[in-house]
Amino acid sequence: MTTATAIWTRRHILSLMDFSVTELDAVLQTTTSLRDVLFRRMKKVPALQGQVVTNMFFEPSTRTRSSFELAAKRLSADVMNFAPGSSSLSKGETILDTAKTYLAMGADIMVIRHQQSGVPQAIAAEMDRINSGVSILNAGDGLHAHPSQALLDLFTICRGLDPENPRCELLRGKKIAIVGDIMHSRVARSNIWSLTTAGADVHLAAPPTLLPEGFREFATDAAGSLKLHWDIEPALKDADFVMTLRLQHERMTAHLLPSLREYHQRFGITGDRLKFCQPDVKVLHPGPVNRGVELASDVMDHPALSLVSEQVTNGVAVRMALLYLIGSSKANGSLN
Ligand code: NCD
Repeated sequence: MTTATAIWTRRHILSLMDFSVTELDAVLQTTTSLRDVLFRRMKKVPALQGQVVTNMFFEPSTRTRSSFELAAKRLSADVMNFAPGSSSLSKGETILDTAKTYLAMGADIMVIRHQQSGVPQAIAAEMDRINSGVSILNAGDGLHAHPSQALLDLFTICRGLDPENPRCELLRGKKIAIVGDIMHSRVARSNIWSLTTAGADVHLAAPPTLLPEGFREFATDAAGSLKLHWDIEPALKDADFVMTLRLQHERMTAHLLPSLREYHQRFGITGDRLKFCQPDVKVLHPGPVNRGVELASDVMDHPALSLVSEQVTNGVAVRMALLYLIGSSKANGSLN
């Protein structure tokens, strides 16, 4: 972990677009060490003792919010949770003023989720402008980015390939299919950045209404490759991992699909479809899952096929790693 903290210079984690392989490996290495803590009898380390982490979720969330909270507590930080419905936002306070209120109470790290793309960036810019020293961790903004989710996906995939030493180079030559509502997915965008930087061959598959041509521009100079498919079979053929995505009804502004039944027939991940993939293929989903729509229930619950629960466990460890890297580098004064 010392080498990982030594290379870490980011005050904020807003997107993975400009993450280097060295930084991705630093996250994987730190996560591997901290994941062990979760399985000890004493599941806590004093790394962030005395630091204040505020969880500011302006949009609903189960696993991301709870796992950031648990991760901060496992590192012995003090955690404040913010819920928009019961806050002064409902009295007209701006989001920046809410952030400044937490700053005045001594917040060191703010974890922010917002339905609009760009809100965590805007808060980070203001916090830097006033020289606050606060770190912002983007926990999902609009359609833009969800870095901690993509990092937990990266960790889960690499750990599946080498549990002792998960690292980016394991992804060279591996085929990863991402299937589903790509257009509305910040998870897909963040995963395209990290997986292609790490060297994987990423294949996107969705109906044309959910996979615009513009996605080709996402990984132009990455070590890995990116291909788009409007049929599922070429994407699944010989895939090592299949990542399914939820149909995000709340973000769809038009009727983009004839019916959920038709979508399942053409793009749903079923046991039969997985026969196109490598025999030891594994399936991921960030959750929440629409069972029987993007993913068949029996695949989701299949212990040899599904990494869904493993993703949730790893989510706590990855978020501990992100808080740890930022928190300890802050204490060393080594942040940009
Ligand atoms: C994702 C999100 O919120 O973007 N979920 C998550 O964080 N686990 C994906 C989704 O909502 O479908």
